[in-house]
Amino acid sequence: MKTRNFKKPKTIIVTGCAGFIGSNFVKVFKKEFPKTNIVGIDDLSTGKIENISNQIKFYKKSILNEKEMEKIFKEHKPEYIFHFAALPRVSYSIENPIKTSEINITGTIILLEKSKKYKIKRFILSSSSSIYGGAKKMPTSENNNQPNPKSPYALQKYVDEQFCKLFSDLFEMETIALRYFNVFGPGQYGKSAYTTVISGWLESIYFPKNKKGFIEGDGSQTRDFCFVENIVFANICAMKATGVFKGEIFNIGNNIRISLKEVKEKIEKYTNKKLELEKRPSRFGDVKHTHADIKKAMKYLKYKPLISFSDGLKKTIEWFEMRRK
Ligand SMILES: NC(=O)c1ccc[n+]([C@@H]2O[C@H](COP(=O)([O-])OP(=O)(O)OC[C@H]3O[C@@H](n4cnc5c(N)ncnc54)[C@H](O)[C@@H]3O)[C@@H](O)[C@H]2O)c1
Repeated sequence: MKTRNFKKPKTIIVTGCAGFIGSNFVKVFKKEFPKTNIVGIDDLSTGKIENISNQIKFYKKSILNEKEMEKIFKEHKPEYIFHFAALPRVSYSIENPIKTSEINITGTIILLEKSKKYKIKRFILSSSSSIYGGAKKMPTSENNNQPNPKSPYALQKYVDEQFCKLFSDLFEMETIALRYFNVFGPGQYGKSAYTTVISGWLESIYFPKNKKGFIEGDGSQTRDFCFVENIVFANICAMKATGVFKGEIFNIGNNIRISLKEVKEKIEKYTNKKLELEKRPSRFGDVKHTHADIKKAMKYLKYKPLISFSDGLKKTIEWFEMRRK
């Protein structure tokens, strides 16, 4: 594989900087690279204004607004693009396939087009393990599991990955897609109908008026839950990696799967509270297990999960406790 040297960037663009992962990314990135200018883009459609750090140059714009994207790229000449902006919920995409396709596909193409024009060094896409659609082989590696998207969202992310590869092939541009597995952590609110199990359950403990906790099936289903700081670290690794990447895909997870029953026990232990869950039947088409094989990311990106599930859960609980104060 060809290599290249890494130099600290002068300027990066972070889309979706008001969202859960994007705002965590900005915090960590600023600490590690205090001299780099961060240009944040978010239309605040689901992101929160209080998530925007005052250490960044912020644009409240939609990534679908091509004219505005042109202006931003032209003015700031970014070296790396960290593309987090999306409408990311599976069930929402089933109800809204047109709107989500526009933002999740066309939005990405607009950014790729500007990245090509302004000759960025590398484009890093937030992709999703949902692309596997119930992989047969566990742990799931990138090569021995063919994509089998089972929702508009999963298909949109798969198309994004293909567009990254196409832009790399056609225009000699570097792109990387990171397929995240079940992300959780501070900044993930549990109120929404589309939230994940961990933040939904913590919301039901700390803000019972907002959310009733429930469990689908018998709780034996397992997930490779990955703490958000590991996802942030993976993005930084993807920027620093010295290879040349043309549409390469990497799983990013914790490499350990944990059952929902165990998650419940740990939450009860660390919060010292009883988690009351309404029992519901298994959801049709729900995947029974997820488990990331992360060898490829470890080898080429030097990624490894820095924070264990339990430590991540404790930090997430601290954040819920702080919000209640
Ligand atoms: N959270 C997870 O478990 C998970 C798993 C796999 C992949 N991902 C991907 O990671 C990325 C970040 O996810 P998240 O959980 O932080 O989501 P999030 O919903 O918290 O953040 C997304 C942000 O994008 C912004 N946004 C939406 N449409 C926009 C538009 N048209 N223009 C500009 N900004 C727009 C929203 O306002 C929000 O701030 C997404 O691409 C998502 O698909 C997330």
